Amino acid sequence: MIRYRHRIVLRAQELSEALDGLADRLKPLLGDDEVTAIPVLGGAMFFAADLVRRLPSGLVMDFIRIQTYGDATSPQKEAKPEWLPHPDNVKGKHVLLMDDILDTGRTMTAARCFLLEEMGAAKVTIAVLIDKPVRRAVPISADAFAVQFQDDQFLVGFGLDYRGRFRNLPFLAALETDLDGLPMSVETTEVSKAPEATGESAASEIAK
Ligand code: IMP
Ligand code: MG
Repeated sequence: MIRYRHRIVLRAQELSEALDGLADRLKPLLGDDEVTAIPVLGGAMFFAADLVRRLPSGLVMDFIRIQTYGDATSPQKEAKPEWLPHPDNVKGKHVLLMDDILDTGRTMTAARCFLLEEMGAAKVTIAVLIDKPVRRAVPISADAFAVQFQDDQFLVGFGLDYRGRFRNLPFLAALETDLDGLPMSVETTEVSKAPEATGESAASEIAK
């Protein structure tokens, strides 16, 4: 079992309050439009499930899965959608595109371009849980975000993963990284149960 040192950045209650604020800022942007809410699978599904339950009923949910292999100059050319929403849910609709984090911006740029140009969306509004502008590689910004971090930390929990793990943590944590920016494992035998059980402890290790 590998364990990683981490620091809790936002607790479950703080995330909930941040989502309340995000929903309030989004409502006027969506207006009375016919909205299709589309999270990018899989990281955004946790955040999206909580966000749409704060928005007016009547919106349609669908999903997109997209992998980006692009460079900073031509991200959309390298994007490979692997799962698409139903065309009826996109054509002529106002799409609320959601992801867990806006980092380099390649994923959202590619997804937005695909929905508008290939699938005929009338409009795309982008909402993310976390905005991390420091590593932006393409010119894109979110229409609304729950929280913004100015520093470059590697975040896990609430949908964000490291090698597929930790998405189910009910809080947001930053993994300690080494000089190469890779999460640092620690070799100990004791793992506190507190953070996974409650999301409220500031214990310093999570296990994979
Ligand atoms: P972008 O295309 O660089 O904006 O990255 C978006 C995707 O990269 C997200 O959907 C995440 O899966 C992943 N990602 C970026 N930063 C982090 C992080 O700090 N922790 C976990 N995943 C991240
Ligand atoms: Mg992701």
